[in-house]
Amino acid sequence: MKDLIQTRVLQLDREAIDEAVAILRNGGLVAFPTETVYGLGADATNDSAVARIFSAKGRPSFNPLICHYPDTEALLPDVYFDARAQVLAKAFWPGALTLVLPRRPESRVSLLCSAGLSSLAVRVPAPQPARDLLARLARPVAAPSANRSGKVSPTRAEHVVEELEGRVELILDGGPCPVGVESTVISLLGEQPVLLRPGGISGEQLAELLGEEVLQPDASTAITSPGMLSSHYAPNSRLRLNATHVSPEEALLAFGPKPLIGAKREINLSPEGDLQEAAARLFAALRELDAAGITTIAVMPIPDQGLGRAINDRLQRAAAPR
Ligand code: TXA
Ligand code: MG
Repeated sequence: MKDLIQTRVLQLDREAIDEAVAILRNGGLVAFPTETVYGLGADATNDSAVARIFSAKGRPSFNPLICHYPDTEALLPDVYFDARAQVLAKAFWPGALTLVLPRRPESRVSLLCSAGLSSLAVRVPAPQPARDLLARLARPVAAPSANRSGKVSPTRAEHVVEELEGRVELILDGGPCPVGVESTVISLLGEQPVLLRPGGISGEQLAELLGEEVLQPDASTAITSPGMLSSHYAPNSRLRLNATHVSPEEALLAFGPKPLIGAKREINLSPEGDLQEAAARLFAALRELDAAGITTIAVMPIPDQGLGRAINDRLQRAAAPR
C-alpha cells in the first residue's frame, strides 16, 4: 500500500448510497454492512479496483473473493446456475450463503476475483440498503470481510475504521451486523456439494434442503478455498478453548447461564445459551478482550451444532498456532 487516503464514515442512507455508487464507479473502495460482517467492496469488473482490495487488506492474491449481487438474476451472466443452485438460492437468498459455481467464460468479472480458479463465489446479501447499493451500481461488487488479512472480521463500522482507516474511501455505517459470522460457503462444482466454510446458514439446513449429503472438505479443497488456512481470524491474545476453569490473569469468553468464576475480565456471548446471539457478538467480544491487553482468553465450550459450528470454526482458527 502506498499513500494513505482520506477515509470518510457516513450513516447509511440514500445520499450515502449515491456517494458510494460514485466512488465504486471510479474504482474506489467502499466498506458496507451485510447481515454477516462488514465487506470491503470494489467494482468486481474493474481489475485495478479489485487489486486495491488485496493491497488494502494485505491479502495473499491466491485467495479468491466473493461477488455480491442485488438478486439472483443479476448473477446469471457470470456463473452457470444449475438446479441445485436454484433450490438453495430460493430457500436462502437473500442471506448468509455463498455459492461457488463454475464461472462463465464470457463473464466480465475480473479474473482476480477467481484467483486463478475456474470458479466464482457469488452471494445475495440480506440487508435492503446493501441490495439498493448493488442495484444502483448495477455491477457485481467483490467484497471480502473488511479487515486486514488474518484479523478478526468487523461487525461494526468502528471495527472497520480500526482496520482500514486510510485505505478505503468510504465506510457506510449501518450499525452492528445481525448474524455476526461470515456466510456459509458451499461448492457446487463437483458431483456432491462440499461445505467449504461453516457460517450463517448451517450445514444441517443445507443438507436437509438438498436431500443429499454435504461433504466436509478434504486436504485438497483447503488449497482451492484458502479461507480455510488454519490460522485466520487471529486476535493478538492467545486463545485457550474448551476451558473448564479460569485463572485470575486470564480473560473469559463465557457462554451460557453458568459462567466460570474468577477471570480478570469476562464477556458472556449469551447468558441464555442462544447460539444466534453468541454468533452476533463473537467478533466484537474477541476484539474487546484483545484490546484489554490480557495475554490469554479462556473460552468456554460452545455446542457444536447449527451456528455453533461456525462459531467453533472461527475460534479454532483464532486459537491456531501462527
Ligand atoms: O459473509 C461473508 O461471506 C463476507 C461478506 C462481506 O459477504 N465476506 C467474506 O469474504 O467473508 P472473505 O473474502 O473474507 O471470505 C471468502 C471465502 C474465503 O474463504 C475464500 O477462500 C472463499 O470464500 N472463496 C471465494 N471464492 C472462492 C472460490 N472461487 N472457490 C473456493 N472458495 C472461494
Ligand atoms: Mg475474511
